[in-house]
Amino acid sequence: MLELRNLTKTYGNTTAVFETNLTIEKGEFFCLLGSSGCGKTTILRMIAGFERRTGGQILLDGRDISEDPPYRRDINTVFQDYALFPNMTVSGNVAYGLRIKKLDSSEIKRRVAEALEQVGLTGYDTRMPDQLSGGQQQRVALARALVNQPRVLLLDEPMSALDKKIAEQTRLELMELQRRVGITFIYVTHNQTEALTLADRVAVMHRGVVEQCAKPSEIYETPKTRFVADFIGSMNFFDAVVTRCEDRETELLLETRWPIVVEQQLRLTPGQRVLFCLRPEQLKLSLIPAKPHENGLSGILRQKVYEGDLTRYRVELPGGKTIAISLHNYLARNIRDFFELNEEFMLHFNRTQGVIIPQ
Ligand SMILES: Nc1ncnc2c1ncn2[C@@H]1O[C@H](COP(=O)(O)OP(=O)(O)O)[C@@H](O)[C@H]1O
Ligand SMILES: [Mg+2]
Repeated sequence: MLELRNLTKTYGNTTAVFETNLTIEKGEFFCLLGSSGCGKTTILRMIAGFERRTGGQILLDGRDISEDPPYRRDINTVFQDYALFPNMTVSGNVAYGLRIKKLDSSEIKRRVAEALEQVGLTGYDTRMPDQLSGGQQQRVALARALVNQPRVLLLDEPMSALDKKIAEQTRLELMELQRRVGITFIYVTHNQTEALTLADRVAVMHRGVVEQCAKPSEIYETPKTRFVADFIGSMNFFDAVVTRCEDRETELLLETRWPIVVEQQLRLTPGQRVLFCLRPEQLKLSLIPAKPHENGLSGILRQKVYEGDLTRYRVELPGGKTIAISLHNYLARNIRDFFELNEEFMLHFNRTQGVIIPQ
């Protein structure tokens, strides 16, 4: 439905967005995720028409809209600071776009009421913005955009001004609202939890470039670049070299001379250098067994942090590298109590776990 082709924006010597290609489906909840300054807002502003592109194209239903002014694009934006008119009531704010379009007043009234109902603000018509909580102001901003029935709604970090509990609740409401209205959402955030929970698909950006665009589970479980692997969740990285690669089995020699075997699909050649990535929750910790586990290595337990649902451990490998492991506390406490600091244990993982990223 919306397609970005080689979209590029430069400001003087700064490349804010570089040759971005994305296709967003009708009705999709799409997230742009990345740290501050990576180009997210710039992409939204080009889609909305507030910023001219330096290169590339923006297509809506196959039609190039790159040169259209904002009001002709059928696209609305919810800004980071909401940008409500402080001297207008809630319904005045929501009605504003329709008044500009000169709709008749009964139609305006009906659509304003409908939009306020969609965001759960029925009865707040005559309040002024400064009489509302942050969460309510955000919903007015949302209603003001929805009332125009746009093809695409752009949301630029709409939760960033809300406190954590309210943001969590608002997130769930926003998901339901999007499913109900069926409008395509493009949602910008630097918060990975928001992106993973809200989105049908996530594009992870870094320095103006989309590093990976995929479903949340794919982004988390099979990151394609070191940046994505590192940015989302926590990850253990190992420099490694391929020692054997057959149909289903790949053998790697990890740094610190740890030989492992994994099952994965990549075509690799012996001698090739790769990066091997393991999530802390993919590792297990056990007492040193008589017969070593597959993909096992012994190390010294150096740190143990109890966090309620899980406990985080750090284990030092021969050579000094430390590895993060997290174990759920459903393990009986008497077993957990065996894991004493400064003693030697075995860490190991299943051959179906881990991700190889060619270098
Ligand atoms: N109007 C502007 N003039 C010059 N540089 C800009 C302008 N707007 C954004 N930039 C730069 O472009 C890059 C991307 O900015 P932005 O899209 O706002 O990032 P994000 O929204 O991901 O935090 C940054 O390096 C920023 O400093
Ligand atoms: Mg921004």
